Amino acid sequence: MAKTITFSIQKGGVSKTTTTGIVAHLMSEEGKKVLVVDMDSQGNVSNLLTGLEQDEYEDETIMDAFRENNARKYIIKASENIDVLPADDFLAHFPEWIYTKYAPPGTGDKKVRALRELLAPLQDDYDFVLVDTPPSLSEQTTNALVTSDYAVILAESSKWAYTAITRFINTTEVAKTVNPNLKVLGILRNMNDSRRYDSKAFVEIIGESFPDLVFGTVIKRKAATGRLSIYGFTDNKEIKEAISEYEDFYEELKKRMGIESKGKKRGLKKKLARLKDFSLKTDK
Ligand SMILES: Nc1ncnc2c1ncn2[C@@H]1O[C@H](COP(=O)(O)OP(=O)(O)OP(=O)(O)O)[C@@H](O)[C@H]1O
Ligand SMILES: [Mg+2]
Repeated sequence: MAKTITFSIQKGGVSKTTTTGIVAHLMSEEGKKVLVVDMDSQGNVSNLLTGLEQDEYEDETIMDAFRENNARKYIIKASENIDVLPADDFLAHFPEWIYTKYAPPGTGDKKVRALRELLAPLQDDYDFVLVDTPPSLSEQTTNALVTSDYAVILAESSKWAYTAITRFINTTEVAKTVNPNLKVLGILRNMNDSRRYDSKAFVEIIGESFPDLVFGTVIKRKAATGRLSIYGFTDNKEIKEAISEYEDFYEELKKRMGIESKGKKRGLKKKLARLKDFSLKTDK
């Protein structure tokens, strides 16, 4: 039975898609089978993981899957362990489809259960299902939360991301009335620019406001991470650097889901490197 995680907040450009893609990649490297569900009509996570542009999978998207109630038909294999249910601009029809076809007035909370119903037959095929969501609150977001075991909140170090956190937590509370299993795993402070006073200040303000929710790891704003959108998960030094930035967060994420880590190789390497520096300094 897959565990489903939604990466979200009603704020744009805070690294929701990049984080979803990197977590999928880290999971796949551990041999986990991952389905990434693109619930954003921008289709960015579809592009990041498959390398395909929207015109290369036109009429073969998650919106088509909804209309036919058949997800399997539209899944794209992105790599050995990662499958993607891709989105394109056509997903803009999702609310209209919900209210006119899937859950007309009088059908109660059916309107937030479409994604849950679509993914139900796939639950035994994957270890994890990761859902990327659009920047503003929408039927896509509420459907994602009602489908999920967990939500991860993304927050850039900025005022409008900060003020969106409480609103997103309120959104999860509403989703819990339909899906009581939903748990907010935490807030990932992202795209921090330590050279900027205001960026550093918001890292602290978010930490002080949500001490029980923030992850200890803070992700830096790095050119290498931004370039992931250009190169995808290719085997080069810069991309490796971008991915390694997320490794400590990934360990925290697993811990909060109650998943035992299979040993932190990188942590051990780091410790040994420090020991080497120490002996160089003292053995003179
Ligand atoms: N840690 C980072 N450092 C530098 N650039 C980053 C980082 N994370 C993401 N980016 C870049 O910032 C931009 C926004 O990131 P991304 O698209 O992942 O955010 P998003 O929250 O999914 O945006 P949207 O709300 O539009 O869906 C992208 O150009 C991405 O490549
Ligand atoms: Mg996005």
